[in-house]
Amino acid sequence: MNLDTYREEKNLNPIWHPCSQMKDYELFKPLEVVAAQGAHIELKDGRQIIDANSSWWCKSLGHGHPRLKAVIKRQIEKFEHVALANTTNEVIVNLSEKLTQLTRSLSKVFYASDGSSAIEVAIKMSAHARKIQGEHQRTLFVSLENSYHGESIGALSVSDLGIYRDPYTPFLFDAYFISALPYVNHADHPLWVDCGFAWRAIEKQLEPLSERITAILVEPIVQGAGGMRIYSQDFLRRLCVWARQHGIHVIADEIMTGIGRTGKMLACEYANVEPDFLCLSKGLTAGWLPLSAVLTTSAVYDLFYDDYASGKSFLHSHTYSGNVLAASIAVEVLAMMKEDKICDRANQIGSMMRTYMQSIADKTQKLTHVRQIGAIVAADLVCDQPGRRLGFEIYQKAVALGALLRPLGNTLYWLPPLTIDMEILDKLKLITEQAILSVDF
Ligand SMILES: Cc1ncc(COP(=O)(O)O)c(C=O)c1O
Repeated sequence: MNLDTYREEKNLNPIWHPCSQMKDYELFKPLEVVAAQGAHIELKDGRQIIDANSSWWCKSLGHGHPRLKAVIKRQIEKFEHVALANTTNEVIVNLSEKLTQLTRSLSKVFYASDGSSAIEVAIKMSAHARKIQGEHQRTLFVSLENSYHGESIGALSVSDLGIYRDPYTPFLFDAYFISALPYVNHADHPLWVDCGFAWRAIEKQLEPLSERITAILVEPIVQGAGGMRIYSQDFLRRLCVWARQHGIHVIADEIMTGIGRTGKMLACEYANVEPDFLCLSKGLTAGWLPLSAVLTTSAVYDLFYDDYASGKSFLHSHTYSGNVLAASIAVEVLAMMKEDKICDRANQIGSMMRTYMQSIADKTQKLTHVRQIGAIVAADLVCDQPGRRLGFEIYQKAVALGALLRPLGNTLYWLPPLTIDMEILDKLKLITEQAILSVDF
C-alpha cells in the first residue's frame, strides 16, 4: 500500500483545506501541485492545467514572473522581516508613496496582512473616528446585498452571503444591506450610465438611517464571491455623493477589483469617485505574498494624531503588517502595471473572454447572463434541479480536460492572469465548452 492510500485509509491526512467540505475530497482529491509558471499549474502526474481563477483572484501577473522573482531575491539578501512598529525602511516608504499616487485624496497608508484584516482595519478606523469626534450615534455599517468582504467576524458582519455567515450570526454585529441594486451585464447597458429610477428607491432605504451610519462598504462595480455581479457605475457615483452629503464614510473594498483587474487600476475610477478608505490586497503583490493596505485621508489620520495620553492612538497591529518582502514585490508590481500597460491588456483579454463565453452560451444553451468587465467574465449555469451542484461537476470535468475552474455555486467564471496568452484563452474556451457538454443536464 502506498503512503497516500495508507494515510487516507487511516484518516491521517492532517490538512483541513480552506473553503471546502472535506468529504468532497473523497469524490475528487486535491490536486498535487509541483510547480507553476505563467498561467499554468503543473501537477505531480505531469499534467499542466490552466489557472483560470488566478489562484483565488490574486495571480494577476501569472505564476513565477522572472521580474518579481528577481526582486524578492534582492530583498532577501538584505532582510526579510522587521516589525513595522518603531521601524521604517526604504521599500515601505517607496511603496506608500506609490500607493498614495493611485488617488487624488488618500494620503496615508496603514498595512495589514490579508484582505479580511484590511476590512477589519477600515471598519475599526471608521468606528474609532466617530468616537473621537463624539458622533456616538454613528454605529451602523451599511453594505450591499450579495456583498462579500472576508471571513473574520467583522468582515462577515458586513457580508451578505448566508453560506459563509449563517453559522456565526449570533456573534456578528448588525449591519444594513442595501437591496434592489441596479445590476448590469456589461457597461453597454443603459443602467450603467443612468440608474436614476433604482437610485430613488435605494435612497428611500437609506434616508431613515442616515444619522446612524458610520460607513458604507462597497466592492466597487463587481461583487466577487457574490457571483461576479456587475452593477451600474452611476449607482456607485450616486451612493458616494449621497454618503459625502450626509457625512458618512465610504469604504471601498478593492481587494478583488483593485490593481487592474477591471481594466482600470481601481474600479472606483469607473464612477470617478474616491472613498474615505480604500482596501487593497491580492493583486497588490500579484499573489506572491500576503499583504494588504488601507489608504485613508489626512482628515481621518489627523483625528488620531495627538499626545499618547489622549487615548486616540490606533492600536491595531498584525505581526507581518507591511512585511518588506511583500512590499518589495508590490513596488515592482505597480511599476509593471504601468510599464507593461496591464490595464489595457485586461480590457483586451476581457473583450475576447466575453465573446468566447457568449459563444459557449450560444452553443451549449446551458449558460445565461453572460457578464463581463475588464478581465472578469461570468455566466450562470442553467439548472432546474434544486440543490444540484452543477458547478462542482463541471469543475471536475474541466480539471480532467486541463483547466482549474472553480465555479461559485452554479456560476461559472474566468478570472485568469492578466498576462495570459490568447492561445491559452482559446484552449480555456474549448475546455469549458467540452466540460459543460460532457455533463448531463
Ligand atoms: C472583495 C473581497 N474582500 C475581502 C476578501 C477577503 O480577503 P482574504 O481572503 O485575503 O482575507 C476577499 C477575498 O476573496 C474579497 O474578494
